[in-house]
Amino acid sequence: KKIAILASGSGSNAEKIMEYFSKTEKAQVSLVASNKKEAFVLERAKKYNVPSFTFSKKELESGMLTAKLLSLEIDLVVLAGFLLKIPDEFIKNFPDKIVNIHPALLPKHGGKGMYGMYVHQAVKDAGDKETGITIHLVNENYDEGKVIFQAGVEVLEKDSPEDIANKVHELEHKYFPNVIESLL
Ligand code: GRF
Repeated sequence: KKIAILASGSGSNAEKIMEYFSKTEKAQVSLVASNKKEAFVLERAKKYNVPSFTFSKKELESGMLTAKLLSLEIDLVVLAGFLLKIPDEFIKNFPDKIVNIHPALLPKHGGKGMYGMYVHQAVKDAGDKETGITIHLVNENYDEGKVIFQAGVEVLEKDSPEDIANKVHELEHKYFPNVIESLL
């Protein structure tokens, strides 16, 4: 089975996934693609000898990426910190084959503009005693696809948004590769 990862930033989750699947025959990460030329995820892909390329928002919206992933016969598209909206046409071509990770317990703290530190700040502002991760399928609306997996972690009053981010990242790294494997 073939996995493609789309990521816009650092790619620590992408790295965990590449590491995990480099050790099993069950599936492979065939491609890392980013909309940011300077994204550190591209360096991480090199480290694992995974082919990578960048694309523009225009190219995403014109169907270029869909065509490329279809031609590569990708079985699962993993969004790991990918910040552009996935076009409807893309979703239609990969029905129930696109998975995203969100750094909170959806339906809390999701939707457009809720990513990265904005999410952890919102958790803090709300006074939540718990946060966590949500791994879900991607549909036409931000953060509303079917939930596949959730895990929670305690938030302490003294936690800063950065502390919360660190706890959430730990959960992401621990569970995301396994959940991807189960989807394959
Ligand atoms: C993660 O927290 C993920 O939940 C979110 O974007 C972040 C990406 O982090 N969607 P990294 O680039 O994998 O380190």
